[in-house]
Amino acid sequence: MNIILQTDRLLFRQFTLEDAHLIFELNSDPEVVKYVHEAPTTRENAPTVIRDIILPQYELGLGRWAVINSSGNEFIGWCGLKKLTNGDIDLGFRYKRDHWGKGYATEAALAVVKYAFEVQGLDRIIGRAHIDNTASQNVLEKCGMQFMGDTEEDGQLVRNYALVSTFKG
Ligand SMILES: CC(C)(COP(=O)(O)OP(=O)(O)OC[C@H]1O[C@@H](n2cnc3c(N)ncnc32)[C@H](O)[C@@H]1OP(=O)(O)O)[C@@H](O)C(=O)NCCC(=O)NCCS
Repeated sequence: MNIILQTDRLLFRQFTLEDAHLIFELNSDPEVVKYVHEAPTTRENAPTVIRDIILPQYELGLGRWAVINSSGNEFIGWCGLKKLTNGDIDLGFRYKRDHWGKGYATEAALAVVKYAFEVQGLDRIIGRAHIDNTASQNVLEKCGMQFMGDTEEDGQLVRNYALVSTFKG
């Protein structure tokens, strides 16, 4: 198992092609994908999500990592960094509904921010959330991200955030 990070309650590991069932469990819940401009994932296309979207980012030292609750050894969702087509590095997260409201998203995101600046040496990361996705905006703000303005994407208003590294190495 390729472990990337650990926090008090969470362990981050890389996804593999064997994890399609986990992506299906997560992304097949319409509430989980409500604000992310995606249709729920089917059992058939879950392997494609891993192969075509998740695994290529690992080659850049980035990626959406599987987040495991250390005490229960249970997959609860993912968090991590993704290089967008415009070159920005995006902090993203997504958790199964029964693991919302426990502080896991913030605990994980803070660890990824530290990793981004201190391990990957990035200068700046960004975050984006649908205008109605206040839970996601809260997580980005609790990571210290600054609101940069709203933009329209595919007819939806998106809140944009950014955080610049203060890590001096
Ligand atoms: C967005 C999302 C990750 C937010 O998750 P979340 O569980 O609400 O976020 P947090 O980890 O910050 O937890 C929130 C609450 O847990 C509570 N909590 C319970 N135990 C806690 C603990 N030990 N430590 C901290 N907070 C705790 C707090 O009340 C906190 O709320 P507050 O900061 O307003 O006080 C989640 O809603 C999700 O996965 N949504 C679907 C996918 C999605 O939209 N992703 C983002 C796309 S932009």
